[in-house]
Order: sequence, then structure tokens, then C-alpha cells
Amino acid sequence: MAADTASRKPPTLPAPLRRMPTAELHLHIEGSLEPELIVRLAQRNGVTLPFASVEALRAAYAFTDLQSFLDLYYAGASVLLKEEDFFDMAWAYFERAAADNVVHAEIFFDPQTHTARGVPMAAVIQGLAHAARRAHAEYGIGSALILCFLRHLSEDEAFATLEAALPHRHHFIGVGLDSSERGHPPEKFTRVFARARELGLHCVAHAGEEGPAAYIETALDLLKVERVDHGVRCTESPALIERLARQRVPLTVCPLSNVKLCVYPDLAAHPLPALLDAGLCVTVNSDDPAYFGGYVVDNYLQLFAAHPRLGMQQARQLAFNSFEASFVDTAQKARWARELDAVIERLSG
Ligand code: HPA
Ligand code: ZN
Repeated sequence: MAADTASRKPPTLPAPLRRMPTAELHLHIEGSLEPELIVRLAQRNGVTLPFASVEALRAAYAFTDLQSFLDLYYAGASVLLKEEDFFDMAWAYFERAAADNVVHAEIFFDPQTHTARGVPMAAVIQGLAHAARRAHAEYGIGSALILCFLRHLSEDEAFATLEAALPHRHHFIGVGLDSSERGHPPEKFTRVFARARELGLHCVAHAGEEGPAAYIETALDLLKVERVDHGVRCTESPALIERLARQRVPLTVCPLSNVKLCVYPDLAAHPLPALLDAGLCVTVNSDDPAYFGGYVVDNYLQLFAAHPRLGMQQARQLAFNSFEASFVDTAQKARWARELDAVIERLSG
């Protein structure tokens, strides 16, 4: 091997996976609540939990499907009562995100999980917005909030939630759709998404996680979403894969989540590499990192370990996609892409 080639060999993974800047676009802030913080907030707020200890709580994280997870996720969120609780939860996420080189996070929150327990909308949004301001000041992390409607509840309840959040309109950039997917198709929320679009909000929705590929199509056609959260069951429809590639509709994929919720038996069976090969704008995200065994870098590391054919080029593409798929302006996307290439270049030196 020529000396100059040897001195400029491509960086070996996983260093770039640990060091490259990325945007996180699929993160439920309530899913970042670690067991230690759940127990601490329960004590602070006098909330009784059905678990005796942090260890007992963690031991319960053996899920069989989405609903078995959601039952525990809503129980965990029951400790959040005051504005400072929402601040503490989001601040803990931002500290962790900074360690993973997340430069930008578009963060889901589920107001109905809290307002149903009598928590004021203002406490939820202001606590999260305060942490976001501090993360920008201390870590330079940009972020934006996306208000999710719980799809197991009615569209009327979604409308009431959107209305209640409007005094805080300047604190969120979009709406999403999460919770139990099967039996709650996108069309249930057509009118409230139309209203959100009128208000100038971005629209995204979970689709094709446990629900069929048809839900991805109706999320695109009826809710007019700009990104699909998960979307992995598009693999069941070659025509849909072709459409997603042609229209470059981003999918916010969450590999560890999909394995924890038994969508796939293991990461080796995960279709992300095939979707990347098919030219889709797929991104890597953590979903509910406190429950699924890892934050965004853990998702990258474990996915790449399970698919040895994934290399530097795919790592760069995935980070690049995360910027492309974000809701920031094109000048910022270009700055991040240059930063990404500079980090890769440095690691190659
Ligand atoms: N799917 C649907 N709803 C959710 C999820 C998820 O992975 N996480 C939190 N709410
Ligand atoms: Zn999700």
C-alpha cells in the first residue's frame, strides 16, 4: 500500500458514529425519563408508584408490543406535575444529547397525558421551553417542540388540545400523532391536521410501526405529513417504497425501539440498510431512550454492529439525512453538512 494511502485510510467505525454531529427527529420527551428521575420526582411530588425501587421499575421494561410499553410509559409520566418537573426531564435529555453530539432535536411531547391529570398546559410547555433555551445557551443545541395528539383518544379531544396550546403557539413548530396505532388510522385525525396546517404548523405522524403500510399512505394523502415517524412497514409495499424514495419523504427510524417492541426479532433483521439502499431519506433516532436501552449514538453503534456492511458512507448519509429531514432553513442544513464533513475529514487524517 502506498504511504500516502496508508496515512489517509478511512476512519474505522465506531469513532465517527460517536463523534459525528446529528439531528434527532424522533424523541418523545416523556420517553427520556430515566427510572432514577421517575423515582426522584415521585418522592418530590408525593406520587405513589406501583414499583418499589428503581431496579423493580427497570426490570419491568420487558415489552411484548407497543401497548405493553405505552402502559408503563404513561405510568412513568404520572410523576410529572409541575413546570420544574418538565424542565428537569428535558434538561436531563439535553445533557445526554450533548454527549451524543446532537446539534438539533425536534422533540415530541404528549400534552394530553398531563392535562388529563390536571396539569396546566402552560406548566408542560413552559418547563420544556425553559430547558430548550438553556440547552441552546449552554450547549449550542438547537431544538423545537412538536405537539403530539394521542391517537387512542378522539379527534374532538385533539382539537381541544390544539386550542389549549394556542396561547403557547410560539413554543412549538408542529403537530404529530402517537400512541396506540392499530385500530386508530390516520384518517381519524384528518380535520385536526387540516386545522394545524392552516395555523402554519408542520405535520408529522407515526405510521407503519405496528400499523400496516396503508397507514403510511393515508398519513401522506390525508394528513399531508412532511415526515413519517417509523414508517418501517413500507417494506410490505414496493410501490410505496418507490413513492417514498421519489418524493424523498423522510422516515424517522428507531432501530432499538423496533426490537424492544418486537417489530423485529433483532437488529440484524432490521430493514434500515435495505431502505437506505432503496434511496429513502431514512434517519436514526432513539424514540424513548430511557425505555429502549439507548440514546441516539447507541442506536447507531448497535445498528452498525449488527450490519457489518454498513460503513463510513452510510454513517455520513444517515447524519446528512437527519439534517435534510429537519425543519430548519437550508442555510443551516448546509452549515451542518459542512460540519459533518469536517469531522469525518479530521477523523480520516
Ligand atoms: N409509538 C407510538 N407512540 C409512542 C411511542 C412509539 O414508539 N413512544 C411514545 N409514544
Ligand atoms: Zn415514537
